[in-house]
Amino acid sequence: MEYAVKAANLTHSYISADSSILSLENIDISVRKGEFAAIIGRNGSGKSTLAKHFNALVPIMHGTLFVGGMNVADKNLLWQIRKYCAMVFQNPDNQFVSSIIKEDIAFGLNNYSITDNVDYRISSALEQAGLKGFENRSVHMLSGGQKQRAAIAGILALEPEIIVFDEATSMLDPKGRRGILSLVSELNKKGKTVIMITHYAEEAVLAEKVYVLSEGKLIGGGSPREVLTDMDLLNQAGLVAPLAVSFYYDLIKMGIRLKKCPLTLEELSEEICSLN
Ligand SMILES: Nc1ncnc2c1ncn2[C@@H]1O[C@H](COP(=O)(O)OP(=O)(O)OP(=O)(O)O)[C@@H](O)[C@H]1O
Ligand SMILES: [Mg+2]
Repeated sequence: MEYAVKAANLTHSYISADSSILSLENIDISVRKGEFAAIIGRNGSGKSTLAKHFNALVPIMHGTLFVGGMNVADKNLLWQIRKYCAMVFQNPDNQFVSSIIKEDIAFGLNNYSITDNVDYRISSALEQAGLKGFENRSVHMLSGGQKQRAAIAGILALEPEIIVFDEATSMLDPKGRRGILSLVSELNKKGKTVIMITHYAEEAVLAEKVYVLSEGKLIGGGSPREVLTDMDLLNQAGLVAPLAVSFYYDLIKMGIRLKKCPLTLEELSEEICSLN
């Protein structure tokens, strides 16, 4: 099996003059090429620290990590790893260096010394991100969701194998959030490996595999159905269950048991309709 990410025993602490904060402890995680994985966890659980490892933004302190078969501990591979595994961050406003979209994307390409087919890469990336024809627009004139799409276009132009979305929807309104989630899912269907990091369990429903981080440890992993319907696990992680799942358990308290625990509101309404 070909792995996009393979970590074993990954442990990390933030060390300063007067403190050491253990942020990750013995993490074993692997993500297949082409997979859509989600990593969920509450504030401070270590999600971003783990994501930064995948992108070679923090040094490997203990354990091993291979990204696209490349050893992340090898400093000579830094730029190759970052080009292979790119990241989209929470705040779209912090991800631009130029206010004109095409200039911003070109800047990113130049950073990675990509000089071939620059115009084509830019227009194709914008089209894939749902911003066809936005080359000359100013980022300041975009909505939050469009800004995040422009940031994603900047990443797509680099043609990475993996895209890590670190809470990429958390600053958006519900419409913007839904749009970015469906774009993420669409990119995965077209072949990208996606690692979606979020503290909304609800957003992990579309993933193939969901991992749960709590206080720097992986405390669960499995299909969305296995993980997101496990109330004990979600409670332990301090996470809110998807709405349909909470509803299922509320109905049980009222003496109504659906045939199966639904993950989405669509599934919930199907289950309710099938009650007789
Ligand atoms: N630069 C840093 N220096 C010191 N400690 C840090 C630093 N970054 C994170 N930490 C600590 O490491 C732990 C994990 O933080 P991390 O940012 O990885 O969590 P997170 O799950 O991404 O949280 P959030 O949901 O708030 O983004 C926390 O205890 C945090 O306070
Ligand atoms: Mg974070």
